Amino acid sequence: MWEYFIFGGITLLMTGVRCEVTEVFVKAGDLAVLPCKSFPPSPSAAAVYWVKDKGGTVWRKQKSGLQYWGSTWSQDGTPRAQCPYSEFGRGDYSLHITNVREEDGGNYTCRVLDGGNVDEQKVTLRVVKMSVSPPVPTLGNDVSISCNITPWPRGAILLWRLNESPFASQNGMRAVPRPGRDITGYVMMGKATERISGNWTCEVLYRGQTQTLVTVPLSVKGIVQPSSDNTKVYAAVGSAVTLPCVFSPSLILSGPTWEKLSSGSRSPSTPDFRPASFTPSPSSSQQPWDRSVSVGEVGVDDEGTYRCSGTAGGYKLSRTLQLVVARSNKISSKKKATVTLTCLLSDESEVTDYKWVHVTHDFNGSQSERSVQTGKVLKIDKMAEENSGEWACRFYGEKGILGNVTYHIPLMSGLTGESATGISNNTGTVIGLSFLLVVLLLILAQMYKNHQRRKRIFQYPALETIVHTIANEREERDRNRAKN
Ligand SMILES: *[C@@H]1O[C@H](CO)[C@@H](O)[C@H](O)[C@H]1NC(C)=O
Ligand SMILES: *[C@@H]1O[C@H](CO)[C@@H](O)[C@H](O)[C@H]1NC(C)=O
Ligand SMILES: *[C@@H]1O[C@H](CO)[C@@H](O)[C@H](O)[C@H]1NC(C)=O
Ligand SMILES: *[C@@H]1O[C@H](CO)[C@@H](O)[C@H](O)[C@H]1NC(C)=O
Repeated sequence: MWEYFIFGGITLLMTGVRCEVTEVFVKAGDLAVLPCKSFPPSPSAAAVYWVKDKGGTVWRKQKSGLQYWGSTWSQDGTPRAQCPYSEFGRGDYSLHITNVREEDGGNYTCRVLDGGNVDEQKVTLRVVKMSVSPPVPTLGNDVSISCNITPWPRGAILLWRLNESPFASQNGMRAVPRPGRDITGYVMMGKATERISGNWTCEVLYRGQTQTLVTVPLSVKGIVQPSSDNTKVYAAVGSAVTLPCVFSPSLILSGPTWEKLSSGSRSPSTPDFRPASFTPSPSSSQQPWDRSVSVGEVGVDDEGTYRCSGTAGGYKLSRTLQLVVARSNKISSKKKATVTLTCLLSDESEVTDYKWVHVTHDFNGSQSERSVQTGKVLKIDKMAEENSGEWACRFYGEKGILGNVTYHIPLMSGLTGESATGISNNTGTVIGLSFLLVVLLLILAQMYKNHQRRKRIFQYPALETIVHTIANEREERDRNRAKN
């Protein structure tokens, strides 16, 4: 008996203990799989023990197949830790722990007793947990984002990211070691600003490898829409537009204001100035946190940068947005029967593409369109009847259509003359030409009058000549008769 034990002990020393400890990093709440494989695969007759920190049994299986759980690993008869029975035949006794908790982190040992062999494998389970406190921070108040690893891996490095971008101590946030006897993690601490809203990721680098990524969303109460400064809103001249400004619901706001920031040299206009043509949008009458404004007909002058702001809890929130006004410009060529339409935007920095389409409305009320060309400038034959009607210039950004401008070509505009936009340019010429024509007509009339008068003077001498001739003829005839 004793001999057997000593022999067993020796084999354990010789074959069993593997120096390598497997590291397993798992996000709190996920499923943890602690590997344990025996080679060569033994029939399921092996006895298997899973123990934590050399102490309590987590799970064990006797040669007979009977299974036991440690008292803390089974709740209401449902075990949280077990080895899938189907894998036993392959010698796989990996321990599955569902809904892993921080306190599950630690050293585990898997011991497989198969005949005379004792195989022991060590696994360190490290549970990574990220949390935000308070869960929904309000602007201007303290916030902390912590990334804990239980147990803490000596020499591990934490990398923080906000919306995929590396985030070192910035925007008033700084990372400090989590207070405690030993280091257990790091905390990003600071004041909540809109700039720290987003997905926070804690990346654990250990032994030169990324062990795990844990992400938590963080939303600071503030302005929900538009979500970023200098958001562009596109509107065609004459169309209606809404400038959005929606605060987080339930935010207690004081003095929300709109102002237009003048471009260039002029200083920002005084607060409480709302652009004259803008009125609260219909949606804002229902919800106090919706401070959007609308305008029924956008003018060229409405183009520019606007700021919507409000104060919540002593903290000023503001957002700027840019109204980009679109219009089309028409230049008619007199020599060639063409008209050139140009799509004009007050800011085209985000426009990647222009497309001109010809829209025809059927008598049925349905409309069909024909895509003509891409590009900002469109040249068409204005005499062609099929070109009359509505033309739309659609402009696109990286994320799709931004807006459109429409232009109307009257039917047979070549015959009916210049349309509205053309007149202003040509009025001078037309007046000049008319004046010349009148002068020319007056001169012609004068010439005609002179001609007529001269004609009248010569009428009578002509008659005289005729009378003379007749008289002379008669004289001659009389003379001849006298001779005969
Ligand atoms: C786990 O094992 C390592 C050595 O492998 C040891 O340094 C560490 O203190 C152990 N942790 C616990 C919680 O027992
Ligand atoms: C944060 O993550 C969620 C889910 O993955 C995603 O839908 C959302 O767009 C992300 N937010 C940001 C700001 O990247
Ligand atoms: C008008 O509608 C009728 C059927 O409703 C259809 O057959 C016809 O093609 C339509 N006309 C045009 C010009 O689209
Ligand atoms: C132009 O934009 C308005 C508003 O978005 C839309 O209703 C209209 O159908 C568009 N017209 C064309 C020709 O794309």
